[in-house]
Amino acid sequence: MLSLAALATGILSAPLAQASNLSDATIYAIFDQANMADIASGRLAWAKSRNPEVRRLAKMVITDHTAVQQMGRDIAKQMNALGTPPAGDASWSQMAQTLERLDKLEGAEFDAAYLRHEIGFHAAVINAIDTVLLPAIEDARFKGLVRKVLPGFQHHLNETRAVAEKLGVTQIH
Ligand SMILES: [Fe+2]
Repeated sequence: MLSLAALATGILSAPLAQASNLSDATIYAIFDQANMADIASGRLAWAKSRNPEVRRLAKMVITDHTAVQQMGRDIAKQMNALGTPPAGDASWSQMAQTLERLDKLEGAEFDAAYLRHEIGFHAAVINAIDTVLLPAIEDARFKGLVRKVLPGFQHHLNETRAVAEKLGVTQIH
């Protein structure tokens, strides 16, 4: 729970605090960063892990989030609405810290840390989309996209939990 709370406050604290003031342009930026963060950790796992299950997960996450990110960018471009993250947003520094921490680990230790991170990250992102971002989005196409991809994010979470269980990785919540 601690880790999930840390992720939720680190990644999405600004939007949670200013939920009613979120413009679509800001939400595009938040959504884009969430995709980017998961692509970056997936690439690290693809480069480092030798475990076939972890590599399969990483590949799925990279492929899916790259596609979703592009769809979000296409809509934002059409709307001329790609914004910047909210003031005080710590997503990039959080992501860099996470990658640095994971990069120091090897083998099974890396796999376990990556899986735990992915579980916490997806749970936090899904929760934020459900409770804060989705209700705030005004543009119908963007709302439709986020609604459409949410089950995919849930699928990633379920798959990651299944691999963690299979590898005997203790879960954090
Ligand atoms: Fe995902």
